[in-house]
Amino acid sequence: MIETITELDQLRERVSEWKRQGLRVGFVPTMGNLHAGHYSLVMLARQYVDRVVSSVFVNPTQFGPNDDFTRYPRTPEADTTGLEGAGCDALWLPTVESMYPFGIDLAAKVHVPGVSSLLEGAHRPGHFDGVCTVVGRLFNQVQPDIAAFGKKDYQQLAVIRQLVRDLAFPVQVMAGSIVREADGLAMSSRNQYLGAEERPRAGEIRKALVGMREAVAGGASLAQVEQQARGRLDAAGFEVDYAVVRRPDLCEPLDGEDGHKVALVAARLGRTRLIDNLEW
Ligand code: PAJ
Repeated sequence: MIETITELDQLRERVSEWKRQGLRVGFVPTMGNLHAGHYSLVMLARQYVDRVVSSVFVNPTQFGPNDDFTRYPRTPEADTTGLEGAGCDALWLPTVESMYPFGIDLAAKVHVPGVSSLLEGAHRPGHFDGVCTVVGRLFNQVQPDIAAFGKKDYQQLAVIRQLVRDLAFPVQVMAGSIVREADGLAMSSRNQYLGAEERPRAGEIRKALVGMREAVAGGASLAQVEQQARGRLDAAGFEVDYAVVRRPDLCEPLDGEDGHKVALVAARLGRTRLIDNLEW
């Protein structure tokens, strides 16, 4: 049975008890409205540790003023059942008051420079400060041995790796593969905002990413690749924030450069902002 925990003392007691027994603890932070992508991270962590804690907390500090904080889908019952099915032992459900007891503005903030300012960071100012602040707090609350994050949020993973390194969190970060729908659309809590007419077009993002990989392989310049991808997404009715090819550390590669790459796209379809990426 999964145990739902709403008090920090109770969480600390449970985790210390496990650690006293010599058990290793994994952690999967989420914002709820869970789907197969989230559950795959619980199952990934489960392979390496004895107990898994997952948190559900819709973190206000990572949403911008025009973002979807208030309408972000909240489905606590389904999340609890799904987490139990995935093998999660404890569900940590902090309240906004317990996370930010003196209010959001007076609370300590964590800023990871550099990688936080690119791409998502440039389009959503302050977003990664909110993510790092809450993930830092959650790590201190749960004190896990490992924590699993999805590659769906490729840049978030890079920012968190730097957070862990710079602040010496004793946590091993693991990365889970992107879980997709049948048409290639990356699973996301935000997909349900898509209207019936928009949903069939959303799979175009994945096709654009595959097209970017093929164009690079075919020797096109990065400027051409990015322009083609934008054109394709524009034609499908998206408003593109970025469609870029980067090195794995998110720095800009040179044309024709060897080595691993990642294509990243952020684009809006109506009111819904979608992100996705493809590594090769
Ligand atoms: P959330 O969007 O709920 O995602 C929680 C975790 O699930 C993240 O690590 C995310 O990358 C992963 N995930 C989401 N969709 C996925 C998919 N289709 N395949 C694989 N993994 C997927 O990311 C956040 O919450 C928040 O920023 C958080 C880290 C919890 C801090 O508030």
